[in-house]
Amino acid sequence: MNHIQHVVVPGTFDPVTLGHVDVISRARHLFPKVTVAVAESRTKRGVGTAFTLDERVDMLREALEEQGVIKLGGVQVLPFTGLLVDFCREQGAGGVVKGLRAMTDFEYELQQADLNAHLAPDIESVFVMSNPGYGYVSSSIVRELASLGSDVDTLVPACVAARLKEHFAEG
Ligand code: PNS
Repeated sequence: MNHIQHVVVPGTFDPVTLGHVDVISRARHLFPKVTVAVAESRTKRGVGTAFTLDERVDMLREALEEQGVIKLGGVQVLPFTGLLVDFCREQGAGGVVKGLRAMTDFEYELQQADLNAHLAPDIESVFVMSNPGYGYVSSSIVRELASLGSDVDTLVPACVAARLKEHFAEG
């Protein structure tokens, strides 16, 4: 039997939060290699992102460095377009890891996992329960708070908080 050696942690990461960093770090403790896959566009609600793909990839790399995840080794960040399961195959990854915060996440994630299993039965979906301390943290909450001038320093890595300040000051 072959154990899964490499997983993908996909998302829009608009922007990356401390909740995401927690999931990525826990994925790395479970599997030797983790590819964080930054989706080009947000397909969930069909609306555009606040940050470009390049910005989201840069923020993730910086945030994972800042939070000590890169030093664990075996973690890379790549952009992706198209189907997640195709990206997993291209990268040679055997699974997808996602975080679950609440029942509302569960319904959406179950639907995606079922679809991915239908498209690629060989790719496993693995879920980790989010750290309860970050249960209420989401990229959309962070964007809303930052756009209203509220402090988001406890919700996102410091480098992301700085980028949000610049973004909404320009905006
Ligand atoms: O952070 P998000 O917005 O919950 O991430 C959603 C994402 C990017 C993982 C999902 O939309 C996705 O996998 N998109 C790629 C297109 C795809 O494979 N669609 C079929 C499975 S939903």
